[in-house]
Amino acid sequence: MTGKQRAGERATDFVRDGMVVGLGTGTTVYWTIRRLGELVRGGLRIQGIPTSRRTEALAIEEGIPLTTFERVGELDLTIDGADEVGPGLELIKGGGGALLREKLVAAASRRLIIVVESSKLVPTLGRFPLPVEIVPFAWEITARRIAAHGCIPTLRRSNSQPFLTDNGNYIVDCEFGAIPDPAALHQRLKLLPGVVETGLFVDMAELVVVGYDDSETVELLTREN
Ligand code: A5P
Repeated sequence: MTGKQRAGERATDFVRDGMVVGLGTGTTVYWTIRRLGELVRGGLRIQGIPTSRRTEALAIEEGIPLTTFERVGELDLTIDGADEVGPGLELIKGGGGALLREKLVAAASRRLIIVVESSKLVPTLGRFPLPVEIVPFAWEITARRIAAHGCIPTLRRSNSQPFLTDNGNYIVDCEFGAIPDPAALHQRLKLLPGVVETGLFVDMAELVVVGYDDSETVELLTREN
């Protein structure tokens, strides 16, 4: 079993009957959703809100009932992956392109639990290029404005065309090298015209479930430890 599977499955221990659960995106939370499917088939009653079309399709395949923000105002819990986790549980997310919906769902949740394998833990964020979602119109100017904040931005492509998010936007992957103050950088980038959302999630994760490839131990990190 891989560290991703160990972390992903372990996080389902925090799901209780009757909860509305945010379903993240990626190859780690995939294991959470698969396990939730088994639990639902065994009688667990939950409703999910997916953070991407990909996750929506997987949840439907697993028979997990889904709901929408039309019907619920708050989620009990969201479980999601991350690309990097810093010492204060600040995160870089968006490697899979779902950062905007992930942030909207996480911000509407009472708790955010992150599932990662151990290589995602870093002393300082920034080795992983920061994904920033931007509107397609005048994207070149927006990318230049972002670059002025100390990075090299690259427009994400898929089959040589610009990658389109589920919201019809572009993503620029920004190499900052090191991000010593994620909250400040997030705020600066959010003020730029054309920036929709950044992949920096600060003060959002309550718990990080860490799985290891070479050990059955699953570590639980909270902001205090
Ligand atoms: C999706 O946009 C991302 O935020 C993912 O949650 C993140 O990239 C982690 O993905 P993996 O679990 O596949 O590494």
